[in-house]
Amino acid sequence: MRQVKTLGLLGTGVIGGGWAARALHFGIDVVASDVNPKMQAWIRGAVQNAAGALSRLTMAPLPRPGRLSFTSSLAAMAQQVDFIQENIPEQLELKQRVLAEASRHASADVLIASSTSGLMPSDLQRDMQAPERLLVGHPFNPVYLLPLVEVVGGTRTSPAALDAASGFYRYIGMHPLRVRREIPGHLTDRLQEALWREILHMVNDGVASTGELDESIVYGPGLRWAAMGTNLIYHLAGGETGMRHMLRQFGPCLKWPWTHLEAPELTEALIDRMVEGTQAQAAGRSIRELERLRDDCLVAIQQVLRQYDIGAGATLRALEARLYQQSGAAARLALAASVDQPARLLELEVRPDWVDYNGHMTDSRYLQVFGDATDALLRSVGVDEAYRAAGQSFYTVESHVTHQSEAKAQQALYVTVRVLGVDDKRLQLFHCLHRGDDGVLVATAELLYLHVSSLAGKAAAMPPAVRAGLERWREAQAKLAPPAQAGRHVGLPRG
Ligand SMILES: NC(=O)c1ccc[n+]([C@@H]2O[C@H](COP(=O)([O-])OP(=O)(O)OC[C@H]3O[C@@H](n4cnc5c(N)ncnc54)[C@H](O)[C@@H]3O)[C@@H](O)[C@H]2O)c1
Repeated sequence: MRQVKTLGLLGTGVIGGGWAARALHFGIDVVASDVNPKMQAWIRGAVQNAAGALSRLTMAPLPRPGRLSFTSSLAAMAQQVDFIQENIPEQLELKQRVLAEASRHASADVLIASSTSGLMPSDLQRDMQAPERLLVGHPFNPVYLLPLVEVVGGTRTSPAALDAASGFYRYIGMHPLRVRREIPGHLTDRLQEALWREILHMVNDGVASTGELDESIVYGPGLRWAAMGTNLIYHLAGGETGMRHMLRQFGPCLKWPWTHLEAPELTEALIDRMVEGTQAQAAGRSIRELERLRDDCLVAIQQVLRQYDIGAGATLRALEARLYQQSGAAARLALAASVDQPARLLELEVRPDWVDYNGHMTDSRYLQVFGDATDALLRSVGVDEAYRAAGQSFYTVESHVTHQSEAKAQQALYVTVRVLGVDDKRLQLFHCLHRGDDGVLVATAELLYLHVSSLAGKAAAMPPAVRAGLERWREAQAKLAPPAQAGRHVGLPRG
């Protein structure tokens, strides 16, 4: 299977738009295709709409965003991508026909995944060429913020395809959940449907409004579900003897007809009640407004869960660990190439929400970017999560930023790093931030760090291997002319 650099989308509605936003954010190029040419403008709007919340998800250094292009030709898309994600309407015959066509245009090592909510992969792969690369990759709306993707193989799907697809999904920050056996509706939609069916019954029977039923979830079980699923939560509810006691106590209720197995008839009256109920809940707020509110909450919840390394927060942590590791690996490569020039450590782009009221990158982001460059350098000499967990770290004791020119939204940038000095406990660095297109200097930072024992809460000598690694950087750059801005104090005239 190929390394995925370009993702092809087949169908660019709600779900296709969500895949585009996620993939682009993590540096994957996207070729979007849709039979409806008007979807070109739509998908660009969807990506823009997602960008705000996505950019707040993590402070870890991200690669430069991917590039988005659009075509209404399936063949043109299929011939230039490494992975195809299909997101056309949920109709079996349509999907079978379009997937078969995609398989004739895409080379046999291009994986093809369907976002289908409930169709079975064995049915979808029926008429395809190289059907072993077809799988279901079922995401959840909004795809750009919810990490879950159900990964399901059909009778002819190869295990290698499932592994490779899971690897790609993980790369773009998702949690691939391998479904052992294909069943209609996979796992999650079976559960969601059971809940929805009961909602429809209760609204139909006039027992509760849509708002009251939503309250019954968001103030209670919904809060628990983000951290632990129903099973683990019920295990806790059983007291000391856990699930066994829970089943003994509440198991008999399952025989009572609390719930219905079939959905009620979707009469006009029921449809009206559902629509009027949810309109009352929306209280005049547009779908876009509600989406932004939902997205802000989803970001905040994942950041809290990350602190506890649980659920979607654990996925976010794993993603960040990979992003930081990548920047450390890039730093090692840069060192090898930096004998006669400052090492180019970090490539980035000014994200739209980094810009202040003057239209330029705001002050705090300079410190973040320079901090990321330091982090990449330190990782290259072994200062990573394990190092910090063992009770050692570098603390910033001084920083001096000079601003040389402006950086606007979406400006490509890169940071070069020089090690000016290192001794037992201190590290002096000099970073330069440049524009990616013409190399113009945007800002510089001179930084002093102290090596500390975080357990003892005081400065401590760095281990010999770390010191030697930093010395290698310093020696490699020793012949370079001293930076003009180094050692300057605020307000002193140049020269
Ligand atoms: N909406 C959800 O919450 C959700 C969640 C998970 C999975 N899904 C699944 O994702 C798929 C897409 O759902 P959606 O909600 O994005 O639908 P949608 O109606 O918003 O988008 C479908 C898009 O497919 C395009 N299309 C139709 N025929 C096509 C063809 N032959 N070739 C290329 N494009 C074509 C349409 O023009 C449209 O833009 C479905 O299989 C659905 O079950 C939906």
